[in-house]
Amino acid sequence: MPSSFFSSMPAASPSWRVCVAPMLDWTDRHCRYLHRLLSRHARLYTEMIHTGALLHGDAARFLQYDATEHPLALQLGGSDPADLARCTRLAQEWGYDEVNLNCGCPSERVQRGSFGACLMREPQLVADCVKAMRDAANVEVTVKHRIGLDRDESYAQVRDFVGQVAEAGCRVFIVHARNAWLKGLSPKENRDIPPLRYEVVRQLKQDFPQFRFVINGGIKDSAQAEELLDGLDGVMIGRQAYHDPWWLAEWDARFFGDLPAAAPASREAVEEAMVDYMQAQHRQGVPTFAMARHMLGLRNGLPGARAWRQVWSDHRLKHFPPREIHRQAQVLSVPQTLAQA
Ligand SMILES: Cc1cc2nc3c(=O)[nH]c(=O)nc-3n(C[C@H](O)[C@H](O)[C@H](O)COP(=O)(O)O)c2cc1C
Repeated sequence: MPSSFFSSMPAASPSWRVCVAPMLDWTDRHCRYLHRLLSRHARLYTEMIHTGALLHGDAARFLQYDATEHPLALQLGGSDPADLARCTRLAQEWGYDEVNLNCGCPSERVQRGSFGACLMREPQLVADCVKAMRDAANVEVTVKHRIGLDRDESYAQVRDFVGQVAEAGCRVFIVHARNAWLKGLSPKENRDIPPLRYEVVRQLKQDFPQFRFVINGGIKDSAQAEELLDGLDGVMIGRQAYHDPWWLAEWDARFFGDLPAAAPASREAVEEAMVDYMQAQHRQGVPTFAMARHMLGLRNGLPGARAWRQVWSDHRLKHFPPREIHRQAQVLSVPQTLAQA
């Protein structure tokens, strides 16, 4: 990575002001590396990792990350306080800044495992989990949840959930401002169909001003994020950040008061840095396209973006080193337009 990117890197920021959401199969360590090239301050989250996978699988495979990724949170899925406590201890050993408990995932597989969104029905169990996690390690324990379950839009359920979990010591709540419909919708539909009700998150902040509330769901641009930040402690952005990674390049100046000059100079500079990274990872056996897929949106909206994307996802090139694929992408994507990026 070019040293200019991180020459004035502050210590890990405690702020949740702008976060990139945990996204299964998307926010792996390669994706987070890309995001960190674009924003030095955004808080990054891993994909959800089930406690069983960590405790009985190859923990290092799930937990390894690049030193630049801080501030970084590990998101856990599970509902056994002792298992969650052991995983939180592992997270501390590996240097994570936060452990987040998933109480928002509505998938049927997750429901069968009795964790995710269905935990909102069991605030006492979530409180026990949070307490066990906090007792096990000296790392911030946070909860990500929905605003309700199924068609029940009463405020009391989410208010009591937050109240009870807060009593166990949780101080940061990340709220996907939609209900989770546990029957009849796929996880994807559950991110679009239940209506967004941002006002519920504002009400939570009003009722529990001593805690931090990070709002999530449907945030598409900086103006909207700024509006939501008025009165709330943070925004968490998922799909839009993933599909339009160049958006992250304006976050440090706009949301964290960093100097605009500290932002990455251009999309080419980010791509170059990513190619260096992929080259090193490729030498260790990581397939190029498992990493490159995360940056396919980097040139969105620019002339030549389509041809560029096609090269970076052309699996006939999979045995080529990243630098060679990069060269081909440059040649095929109308180089004279790139300088305007
Ligand atoms: C592909 C994908 C995978 C996701 N995986 C997780 C996950 O592992 N844990 C989690 O809490 N939320 C997960 N989510 C939900 C997001 O974190 C976020 O709450 C949701 O996408 C709404 O935010 P957005 O409208 O900004 O995308 C996932 C979302 C997507 C699109």
